[in-house]
Amino acid sequence: MKKKLVSLLTVSAMTLSLLAGCGASNTATETATEVAETATEVAETATDAAETATEVAETVAESAGDSDLADKKVGVCIYQFADNFMTLFRTELENYLVSQGFSKDNITIVDGANDQATQTNQIQNFITQGVDVLIINPVNSSSAATITDLVVGAEIPLVYINREPDADEEARWESNGWNVTYVGCDARQSGTMQGEILVDLGQEAVDLNGDGKIQYIMIEGDPENVDAQYRTEFSVKALEDAGWAVDCLDDQVGNWDQATAQQLVANSLSAHPETEVVFCNNDAMALGALQSIEAAGRKVGEDIYLVGVDALTEALEDVLAGTMTGTVFNDHIAQSHGAADAAINFITGAGNDYYIGCDYVKVTADNAQSVLDSLK
Ligand code: GAL
Ligand code: CA
Repeated sequence: MKKKLVSLLTVSAMTLSLLAGCGASNTATETATEVAETATEVAETATDAAETATEVAETVAESAGDSDLADKKVGVCIYQFADNFMTLFRTELENYLVSQGFSKDNITIVDGANDQATQTNQIQNFITQGVDVLIINPVNSSSAATITDLVVGAEIPLVYINREPDADEEARWESNGWNVTYVGCDARQSGTMQGEILVDLGQEAVDLNGDGKIQYIMIEGDPENVDAQYRTEFSVKALEDAGWAVDCLDDQVGNWDQATAQQLVANSLSAHPETEVVFCNNDAMALGALQSIEAAGRKVGEDIYLVGVDALTEALEDVLAGTMTGTVFNDHIAQSHGAADAAINFITGAGNDYYIGCDYVKVTADNAQSVLDSLK
């Protein structure tokens, strides 16, 4: 291209020179010289343009390579596959990662089997394999510092999900400028909403025996987990903040598990038939509680109240049927997408904030259908 241009202009200059040589004026010779100079300048400009074009092409090729997510490897550690909510979460996470350009073969999701030693081993394996990013739902939030040190030491970016490390740990990421973040909701909000669902019904309705106090039993998730701690604390606090007196009849650990909760609530109800409210830190346990409530011949909304968290499909159907008072939507869609987006931001170099939050949604019979529809 450049060569053609130069020779074309040179030919024109030569033609003009010839004309000058054939007895034409000096002007023709001068014009010929000018044209020749212009030819050289044009040729130089063409060279510059060609170089710029090459540079642009190289930059485009490089950035296309960087954002080519199909080649990137993602390691995902889930604390336990046998957890209803985390199953929704990981399924959505995988689908969304694929929709964003990752290859399914490059996404490996492993089951920590609720054992930190097992999970730590899995993290070490991912590091050996050289994954490009890790998404971790820790078995023990208290192991976060050890996990972070391992992963950051290997220079792999890290996205924590679902089980929030403590404030000291999060502060460490920021002060060291590490590529580590947490994506999740604030469990205090879910607890508050559980309490508010009852407060909205009015004290007269909930204080079934009319003694001026709310007799309740609490079924907790894994107590090592802030979700369990905060939901336990803030659900009751919402009643107290409304000026209600409370009376805790029993507080048991159901470890997020339906069958465990079923057994615990069966025992509690027979020991404390005066129970007015059953608080469960999640829906799986509320479903277990409901089995025991029904087995005891009690009726939710008539002689007992029951609230959970997560908005599992089955729980939403119970809320619609009136067999559960309410639940709180734990948005696994927003959280899994947020985690995947954070992973992508680390890979592309865009980076992330150290905390990426999301809101819970209060669910009663009024909006359970629309939440159900949004999940389909
Ligand atoms: C909570 C959720 C529970 C359980 C737990 C696991 O956010 O409500 O159902 O999945 O996470 O850490
Ligand atoms: Ca009462």
